[in-house]
Amino acid sequence: MEILKNDLFLRACKKETIDRTPIWIMRQAGRYLPEYRKVREKADFKTMVKTPELATEVTIQPVDIIGVDAAIIFSDILVIPEALGMNYEMVESKGPSFDWTISDEKDFEKLSRSDLSDKLSYVFEALKLTKKELDGKVPLIGFSGSPWTLLTYMVEGGGSKNFAKIKTLIFNNPSLAHKLLDLISETVAEYLSLKIESGVNAVQIFDTWGGLLSPDLYREFSLKYIKKVIANIKRNSESIISYAKGIHHSLDELADSGADVISIDWTHNIGEVRKQIGNRVALQGNMDPTALYGNIDIIKREALKVLDSYGKGSGHVFNLGHGILPDISPDNTKALVDIVKEESQRYH
Ligand code: CP3
Repeated sequence: MEILKNDLFLRACKKETIDRTPIWIMRQAGRYLPEYRKVREKADFKTMVKTPELATEVTIQPVDIIGVDAAIIFSDILVIPEALGMNYEMVESKGPSFDWTISDEKDFEKLSRSDLSDKLSYVFEALKLTKKELDGKVPLIGFSGSPWTLLTYMVEGGGSKNFAKIKTLIFNNPSLAHKLLDLISETVAEYLSLKIESGVNAVQIFDTWGGLLSPDLYREFSLKYIKKVIANIKRNSESIISYAKGIHHSLDELADSGADVISIDWTHNIGEVRKQIGNRVALQGNMDPTALYGNIDIIKREALKVLDSYGKGSGHVFNLGHGILPDISPDNTKALVDIVKEESQRYH
């Protein structure tokens, strides 16, 4: 059995009694850190993702520099569309852009469906190397996009303003959308199972775009497939975290999806969410990422609001409501971590 020096994060996911609230930060390995930018000067984003030594180095940076209680492997949700045969580029200061997009049945047939462990071997190697280098310091988290969020990128070809293409697909050709979501769900379940086999202690499913959908369509096109992924992940004691954005309408249904932890955005009051679903799952979140633009007093005020709103007892993993922004000060980020470590003790 693996012995971790700090397992607070894993114990909070299981609502076990602990002496303070653990904290990690979505997108904690990234451009806000000068140490990350230094590595990034030598290699472009995709090279970093595909070179286990570089991925390991930047994965561990926030553990050492910021003091977070968990590491999350440096990678991207877009490695799955790529393994399915869709090449992408990460365009500087613009974001991802795919070579081709899916619009009809012929495109569906073009997707390749085999050799995931081979095609993504660089991810599994990076995980094994990171586990070794972490040497039990903190747990390691693996992740994937949700089927719906991945499909959105595969149909839009990159970021989007109105999401016209994916919306056109679900309204005009829902059966194709479901076929695609089925294929992606199988792939994601296999991918997360392989990550667990490579040593991650928990996995997070990012449904960044679930909130684009009305409640009934969210259940039909997103939630259904999150459930399918969760049901098909091969795991032992590893916790599953489901990150949801903009879905006030379906928290009860999401709490019954099989996830152990629901990660919520900052537009929720976490105490109210705890009352609603906190008996069934642990909660992760949910400070506004832009509160880190404030000075230390403001950061403290906002962090205390979250801690106080959740209240006493276990089952809370402190995080932001979405990823940290690239122009946030590392000092402010470190201050947040220290504040949570210190101030959360009285809630346990
Ligand atoms: O959390 C972590 O520290 C692990 C690393 C991580 C990255 N992307 C690294 C990254 C994780 C968990 C992701 C997930 C991801 N990627 C999501 C879901 C979560 C979310 O934030 O909504 C999505 C939608 C993507 C797709 C993606 N990757 C976009 C839209 C972009 C461009 C926007 C941006 O922030 O630059 C990326 C690039 C990306 N992924 C960077 C990092 C560190 C920046 C790359 C760089 O220029 O160095």
